[in-house]
Formats: sequence, C-alpha cells, structure tokens
Amino acid sequence: MNEKIAQIRAEIEQKITTMKSSSALYEFRKTFLDNREGKITGLMKGMKDLSPEERPAFGKVVNELKSWAISRFEAADAAVREAELAKKNESERIDVTMPAEKRPVGALHPITIVTQELIDIFAGMGFDVYEGSQIENDYYNFTALNTPKDHPARDMQDTFYLTDEFLLRTQTSAGQIHVMENRRPPIKILSPGSVFRSDDDATHSPMFTQMEGLVVDKGISVCDLQGMLDTFARRVFGEGVGTRLRPSYFPFTEPSVEVDVSCFACGGKGCKLCKGTGWIEVLGAGMVNRHVLENCGIDPDVYTGFAFGMGVERIAMLKYGINNIKALFEGDMRFEKQFVR
Ligand code: DAH
Repeated sequence: MNEKIAQIRAEIEQKITTMKSSSALYEFRKTFLDNREGKITGLMKGMKDLSPEERPAFGKVVNELKSWAISRFEAADAAVREAELAKKNESERIDVTMPAEKRPVGALHPITIVTQELIDIFAGMGFDVYEGSQIENDYYNFTALNTPKDHPARDMQDTFYLTDEFLLRTQTSAGQIHVMENRRPPIKILSPGSVFRSDDDATHSPMFTQMEGLVVDKGISVCDLQGMLDTFARRVFGEGVGTRLRPSYFPFTEPSVEVDVSCFACGGKGCKLCKGTGWIEVLGAGMVNRHVLENCGIDPDVYTGFAFGMGVERIAMLKYGINNIKALFEGDMRFEKQFVR
C-alpha cells in the first residue's frame, strides 16, 4: 500500500511542473482527484477489502495524501496562472515614452475662407443668405431669367443637362427667382453656392463657386449698386481700391455692367497682374430687367433692383495670387494650410 502511495506522489511530482496551462493542469488534477475516476479517490474504494482494524490507519494515510495533493495542485495552479498573466502583460505592454502617432490638423479651404469673408462683408450691409439648390429646372436657371429656349445668351454657358427639363445650375442667379417668388420687397439677399459648366482650363473648372447678390426695393438705382461695390472692393482688396463699371450684356439685367476694381498690385499704374491696364475685372452686375421682376409678380413700375454675381474662385485667386484654378481642387494640405483669415 505504501508503495502505491509513493508511486502516486512521484507521478504527481514528476509531471506537475510540465503542465504549462491551467487547463492542462486541471485535466491532470482530475486523473487523481476526480470523485469517480481519480487515482486517489480510487484508493478509498479499496478500503472495503481491509479488516476493520486496518481501516483507520489506511484512511489516515490516504487522507494525508489527498490533502497533500490538493495543496500541491493549488500551488501549481497559482504558479501557472501567474506565469500566464505575466505573459499576457508582457504582450500588451505599452511603451509610454514612444512618440505618439500624429493626427494631421486640417485647415479651412481658401474658397471657404473667401466665402465666409464675403458673407461677413455683405451681412454687415444688411444682406440675408439664401442657399438655393444645385439641381434646377430650365425655368429657374434660364427662362425666368429672361433667357427663353433658343435665346443666343444660352450659349454663354455650356450647360450640363440631366434631362430635357432638369440641369445642374450654371449660375446662382437661379436663386433670385426663388427668392422673388417667395418674398416681397424690400429684398436683400446673398446667395453663395456651387455652379456647373462644361468648361475646363487653367482658370475654369467644371464646378466652381459663385456669390450672387440681389436687392429689390423702391427707388434702387445704379448709384446704390456702385456704392455697395466700392465697399466690397475696399474690404476685400484694400482701402485704396475703387471700382469702375463697363457696359456689358446679361439677359436678366438692363443695363448690364462688368465691374472692374483698380489694380491693388500696382495702385492702377499698370502691371503684369492687370495686364498694364490698371483695372481687374471681378464680377458682372446690373439693374434687374423689368421682365424678370414681372416673371416673379413684382411690379417694375413700383420697384427696381440691382443684382450682381461673382466667381469666388476668381476672387480667391486674385487675392492670394493663385495662378492655376486646379490648385483649389487638389486637396493638398501643403497648399491649403497657407491661407488664414
Ligand atoms: N450669372 C452671371 C454669370 O454666371 C453673373 C451675373 C451677372 C450675375 C450679372 C448677376 C448679374 O446677378 O446681375 O455669368
């Protein structure tokens, strides 16, 4: 009997240190201590073959073996778990002294900066912002703006048609009609947004940004237009800058003008930027054509108005000295980070 006990002890001692996981150790423990099949529990079952005198001594020895085995397995289990934890901690270790991964910080796009600046300037003169929709129908983009089908002025803009009826707006002027249909004078709105034309070179992009302005009230004249444009030019290009109006043509204004600002680079003397003329063209404008007012149910004998439309990319390119419009569409942070308001 003592031999058997020594054998069991030796087996446990020999193999217990080779168990490297708590689950392997648990399985190994079961082969000795499982209630039904364990080798130690099995010894107890032999008790019935002994004489009553022998039983107490035997029971004592087996119980000692059992409690030795239990504490031996507990100690081994604690050691294995500790080793497992140490391994896990090691694999999850973080070196807090390592330099952190840098998250690039963005910047406002120059078009956003200029748009916001223009809104601030005109909001200061009492303008509301109206953002129209980029998909328009033929009526709002052309017909109501006094440009019916077959009108030669439609050739001024190469239009992306979606269907016969719907198109990508070619001008924020379409918003004028929506506003005049829904509000009564006095009207004073500014309408910024993307517009689309099939046009692509160093100064034109198929998608670009316009800023439209519309004022309708009693007694509005060209003087009001130029006074407001002077304020705009000084705020955007500098105190010494003035404006001049040249006759032009747009179907929705009569008279129509092209607006130049005096060259802010040379003070009007003539340089490379203004191509020696002393003036730089910045926008189109005019007095709202009476047909357009009539189309919106506004009496042109009572009310008059002016409108203007400018390309925001053009203003940004002039202001920041950008010579290729593509730079505004590439999303290169080295470029975009150079502009601050
Ligand atoms: N819509 C014109 C264009 O895209 C710009 C323009 C000219 C707008 C005169 C106006 C205006 O409101 O009065 O070329």
